Amino acid sequence: MNATGNAKPPSHVAIIPDGNGRWALRRGLPRMIGHRAGAKVVARAVQWAKRAGISSLSIFCFSTENWSRPADEVSGLMRLFDLMLRRNFRRLLRENVRLRWLGKADGLPKTMVETLRSLEEQTADRSGLQLFLAINYSGRDEAVRAAAKCYGGISVSAAADWNQMAKRLDCPDMADVDLLIRTSGEMRLSNFLLLQSAYAELYFTDCLWPDFDEKEFLRAIATYGQRQRRFGATAPPDEQH
Ligand code: IPE
Ligand code: MG
Repeated sequence: MNATGNAKPPSHVAIIPDGNGRWALRRGLPRMIGHRAGAKVVARAVQWAKRAGISSLSIFCFSTENWSRPADEVSGLMRLFDLMLRRNFRRLLRENVRLRWLGKADGLPKTMVETLRSLEEQTADRSGLQLFLAINYSGRDEAVRAAAKCYGGISVSAAADWNQMAKRLDCPDMADVDLLIRTSGEMRLSNFLLLQSAYAELYFTDCLWPDFDEKEFLRAIATYGQRQRRFGATAPPDEQH
């Protein structure tokens, strides 16, 4: 890092892939077609992240608030995730990718929870890209569940300590987010990785998720390279004396 930006690429990139529905509607197609196109882009993003030398990639697939969508869209999305996990992500087993799941089981089809847990187990020893899929996840829900684990196991004063709580998040060893990308022009976090994004650099683009490509991805990484991160201090950590 220097006074003009970050020399190192981000180690953890988080993405809120937004705009599937609008992409489909603009083409006069059902929203589900947009979700299918978006799912293909998620699989591609894994390859871009690997090529860019990124260690961790987090994708917000389905939030705890998304249950309020029409029932046929919710069930279509569940079927799509199941298919993606069983078929496309099987490929990751051969590619040294470690799959992790963020979120809670409540409400998800039992078979999907089993698939997620089994993929986590099968890839537990992979040393390449760590792929975090947030399914039935929200940052507040994760915080509440972590706090409940604290109160259940240890004293209240220790639970108030961030380090204690951090150990009880869904994936305690997940690195803080360096760069958070959201597509489709919306400038919100929508409850994604609230605690882990405390010092994330935010990148918003009007591009709809199904149109997002490697060039756009690298543009976000290059923008990150121009940002100066100070973490609440007056100078970047490596310039402090
Ligand atoms: C994001 O696309 C995909 C999921 C939340 C699963 P949207 O479905 O939110 O697309 P828009 O915002 O309606 O265009
Ligand atoms: Mg949306």
